[in-house]
Amino acid sequence: MTSTPLSHQTVAVFGASSGIGLAVARGAHALGARVVAIGRDHARLAAALGDDAMRIATCDIADEAQVAALLRDIGALNHVVVTAGGVVGPSPLASLDFDVARDAIATKLQGSLLVAKHAAPRLAPGGSIGFTSGVLGRKVTANTVVKTVINAALEAAVRQLARELAPLRVYGVSPGPVDTPNWGTLSDAARRERAGKLAATLPVGFMASADDTAQAYLFAMRVRALTGTVIDLDSGAQIGG
Ligand SMILES: NC(=O)c1ccc[n+]([C@@H]2O[C@H](COP(=O)([O-])OP(=O)(O)OC[C@H]3O[C@@H](n4cnc5c(N)ncnc54)[C@H](OP(=O)(O)O)[C@@H]3O)[C@@H](O)[C@H]2O)c1
Repeated sequence: MTSTPLSHQTVAVFGASSGIGLAVARGAHALGARVVAIGRDHARLAAALGDDAMRIATCDIADEAQVAALLRDIGALNHVVVTAGGVVGPSPLASLDFDVARDAIATKLQGSLLVAKHAAPRLAPGGSIGFTSGVLGRKVTANTVVKTVINAALEAAVRQLARELAPLRVYGVSPGPVDTPNWGTLSDAARRERAGKLAATLPVGFMASADDTAQAYLFAMRVRALTGTVIDLDSGAQIGG
């Protein structure tokens, strides 16, 4: 067998209250996994997940004691996915707010490593750890140094940890622009305008949805030979626009 079904596998998703993580949690649940949907706010998770019968757990991914306690409580796991990350706006280096930068690093970069540290001892053979980077990790764009260094560091961590934690599998997913709340609060009209502008720059001609992007994680969890690599599920953003 070259792939493993997700049915009856336990999948923990950090960042499941919104966007890509919510789509991964729903997708894994639909494939029969026992999903633990994790975010910071129980009510927000419950509202996002609706009637889907998933376990909900709260945890601030930047806080090691909370991450350790939650993973201890979940116990044996097959797969863990991290999509948690805050909104990080563009800023020239000259006016970069380092408090904001530190928060972003503590959440997405340090938080991903904390999850890997505390999940690894609980993952079953064939299990996987999935990180989320982003097209700006490799595509050079002005005023995005914080996103770039976080995403590039996570991609380096994927390769390094895939070796260190083997035979556990470690992979990354690098999204391009995805239509989620991670862009900050916008009116519907502003969202449509942004999606239209971005679509024109993307080889596929549209802005991906969270469900489009979730396909990469659902694939990576099931394919037993995949490790140490990053899937660019980015609508062609790395090569276009
Ligand atoms: N959307 C894009 O265009 C895009 C492009 C490239 C890369 N990415 C990356 O993809 C990842 C997911 O983005 P998204 O678009 O799905 O974002 P999103 O819709 O804003 O969702 C972010 C999720 O992270 C959770 N979260 C934030 N801070 C957290 C913390 N300290 N502890 C635990 N959970 C926390 C949020 O939950 P609560 O707030 O409820 O806790 C929410 O569930 C991010 O790393 C982002 O950088 C996104």
